Amino acid sequence: MCGIVGYTGTVPAAPVLLDGLAKLEYRGYDSAGIAVAEGGKLQVVRRRGKVAELAHTVGHFDLTGKSGIGHTRWATHGRPSEANAHPHVSCAGDIAVVHNGIIENFADLREELSQRGHTFRSETDTEVIAHLIEETYADLSKGASTTSEASGLLEAVRLASMRLVGSYGLAVMSSKEPGVIVTTCKDMPIIVGKGSDGAYVASDAIAVIGATRDVVFLKDGHLARLTCDDIAFFDGYGKSVTEETTHISWDMDVAEKGGYPDFMLKEIHEQPRVIRDTLKGRLVAGHLEIDELDMTAEELNLIDRVYIIACGTSYHAGLIAKEQIEGWARIPTEVEVASEFRYRNPIITPTTLVVAVSQSGETADTLAAIRDARIKGARVFGITNVLGSPVARESDGVIYTKANKEIAVASTKSFLGQLVSLSLLALLLAQAKGKMRMNQIRLIFRELGDTAEQVERILADTSAIDEAARACVDATSALFVGRGMGAAIAKEGALKLKEISYLHAEAYAAGEMKHGPIALIDEGFPVIAIATQSPVYDKVISNVQEAKARGALVVAIATEGDKEIANHADHVIYIPKVRDALSAITASVPLQLLARSIAVIRGCDIDQPRNLAKSVTVE
Ligand code: AGP
Repeated sequence: MCGIVGYTGTVPAAPVLLDGLAKLEYRGYDSAGIAVAEGGKLQVVRRRGKVAELAHTVGHFDLTGKSGIGHTRWATHGRPSEANAHPHVSCAGDIAVVHNGIIENFADLREELSQRGHTFRSETDTEVIAHLIEETYADLSKGASTTSEASGLLEAVRLASMRLVGSYGLAVMSSKEPGVIVTTCKDMPIIVGKGSDGAYVASDAIAVIGATRDVVFLKDGHLARLTCDDIAFFDGYGKSVTEETTHISWDMDVAEKGGYPDFMLKEIHEQPRVIRDTLKGRLVAGHLEIDELDMTAEELNLIDRVYIIACGTSYHAGLIAKEQIEGWARIPTEVEVASEFRYRNPIITPTTLVVAVSQSGETADTLAAIRDARIKGARVFGITNVLGSPVARESDGVIYTKANKEIAVASTKSFLGQLVSLSLLALLLAQAKGKMRMNQIRLIFRELGDTAEQVERILADTSAIDEAARACVDATSALFVGRGMGAAIAKEGALKLKEISYLHAEAYAAGEMKHGPIALIDEGFPVIAIATQSPVYDKVISNVQEAKARGALVVAIATEGDKEIANHADHVIYIPKVRDALSAITASVPLQLLARSIAVIRGCDIDQPRNLAKSVTVE
């Protein structure tokens, strides 16, 4: 969940690191710090709070060193404080480490190192790494034998990392090897690349692509040694290896707000483009094709059970896809929160398909669930937004959502990309199983494409949404209700609202209201009802009436042309008519805007809500 960056080159490192950290801040923003090689020493500057505060402090130092490492933190072990901020240093202050991940055996290592005289200055798991490397480096300097081709800091990091249990992306420096950065990883992403002014390492390509678009995604257990002129790669045995380079094609403007007040609004407005890009090239000679899944129609036809595993918003995309896969392909489908799935004993056979949905492609629970499912013999498809991410690498096949980098912590455009990708997968399964006529599949594919223009229309006039937001803003709690597809859409609406506005929100299948939650409703209590045209429209209206009769302030998301709804709701947000199976694509957009609008009025930080981080790389 943390962001790490490193640079060694021909220009002062501090501004490069601060720029990289600002781009990585969405990964965590509890504290930030840098270490720069300065006159034979490592100068460490750390601050609690955001990167801007660190930048302000760094301004008081005259840092001219041309190599350094930096970190922006989402606290796991130890509260957000300057002492717990990275980089962490060894006893002598000559080794500095930044870390993304969790060291599970840190307590044992800390105990062991303390007994050998190491002094700890933080509550973090990371600090043990600096002390372990310090010790190993000292042993090597005294001539300890090693069988690898590596030496010095590289070998010290290699040997020390063999003692670590858990997950890590590391960047390490030593004052004894100025201009050298060593990096390694396990279950956490590390990207390295060579620009015209030096070598870069980061936990996300966004911090590197200003310098180079040709990057290496470091393999688990491998290491890289960066110097101003060169990047050398090694495997876990310390043997020199050649790594494959990947070209990153997304535009640099993903890192800019482009005139919008926040990334979330910018990303909401990108959704029509995401829908179009995700569909591009999928209908070939009248047939659906998703070659990346690498499965024949015969193999797809054999699938008799689907599990969709994901977390948060991605889980909600799964709930919506369940309706499509069961409705169109007639395959029984379960949707499970990855953190639960990984500790259950689900029934998996060779004809089970597991679909892992993750925007970041890094979510620890989803990754663990993928591994578990593969061990049990399932075929795993990943749906992710990040090229070369762990989910992409560890799945048998992958569909990319074409959302481009998403910066706001609240997922919006990647969610729509997931909905479209999962719709395609459901149609593909229906095609392979012969459960729908081809002209019906082509019709739905066309209608999927039409949602891009329908979302554009929703975005063109948001006045009704803003008015509803103003009506809800003083509430302390809200209920989101719907039935069928609407029940899943309601869950995503509630998550968006609580995530960015800090208003308590709950989602219920509307028919469940009278079994408990209706007790919450009194005068002016907001009930947001997904009341689009569907086979259960009349039932939703009855539930809305029940809420209204108890004084609720009803905001309805309804289909254009529906006059009836205005008789029951205080605020109606109309959206274009789509078939029920695709309604999540359009109905989610006003809910995103409603949450944002309420959060803006409440003065919340839209892109970086408290306590959250974009990638949840810890269990
Ligand atoms: C969405 O707004 C949230 N930030 C969060 O629920 C997110 O969807 C979840 O953490 C899963 O992330 P992933 O898609 O990257 O796996």
